[in-house]
Amino acid sequence: MSVQLSLTERPSGPVLSAEAYKKIDREIAKYPADQRQSAVMSALTIAQREVGWVSPEVEAEVAAYLGMPPIAVHEVATFYNMYDLAPTGRFKLTVCTNLPCALRNANYAVETLKAKLGIGFNETTADGLFTLKEGECMGACGDAPVMLINNHRMCSWMSDDRIDALLDELRAEARGSTTRTEGGR
Ligand code: FES
Repeated sequence: MSVQLSLTERPSGPVLSAEAYKKIDREIAKYPADQRQSAVMSALTIAQREVGWVSPEVEAEVAAYLGMPPIAVHEVATFYNMYDLAPTGRFKLTVCTNLPCALRNANYAVETLKAKLGIGFNETTADGLFTLKEGECMGACGDAPVMLINNHRMCSWMSDDRIDALLDELRAEARGSTTRTEGGR
């Protein structure tokens, strides 16, 4: 999906909810008054949780709100892979494929997930539930192989049984709720 919007163009209407701006303000307050740009990662995270992804409008709004060059926000959003620059499924599954996880069968877990979901990396299931991503070391090598769900919840020691149980749980969660929750995004 491609949205054409200049990185210097601030959206005319509100991009985020009042609650999201309050959360960003709390992050800004953690830094000296002349360093509000230091809250950029938190602001992008808060915006992504609300909007679902870091759209060009979100980047432009965060830049304007923090008083920093839009290209600097874009650099942050494109450097860290927890930011989604395109819409994802409700559950983003990011599998670590770095060496310690690879040595503990991460590639087998990846192939299992691909087969069960019928998608490859950077693809989303037709029902919009799952997006599969490849990730870097998550600092949990002792639990290898690991996977992150929506950047928040860690799934350790991914065996066939644990993958099956997790997918069943997430599908049940989706059936039980039609709205995104903090735990679901
Ligand atoms: S290599 Fe996978 S968590 Fe460190």
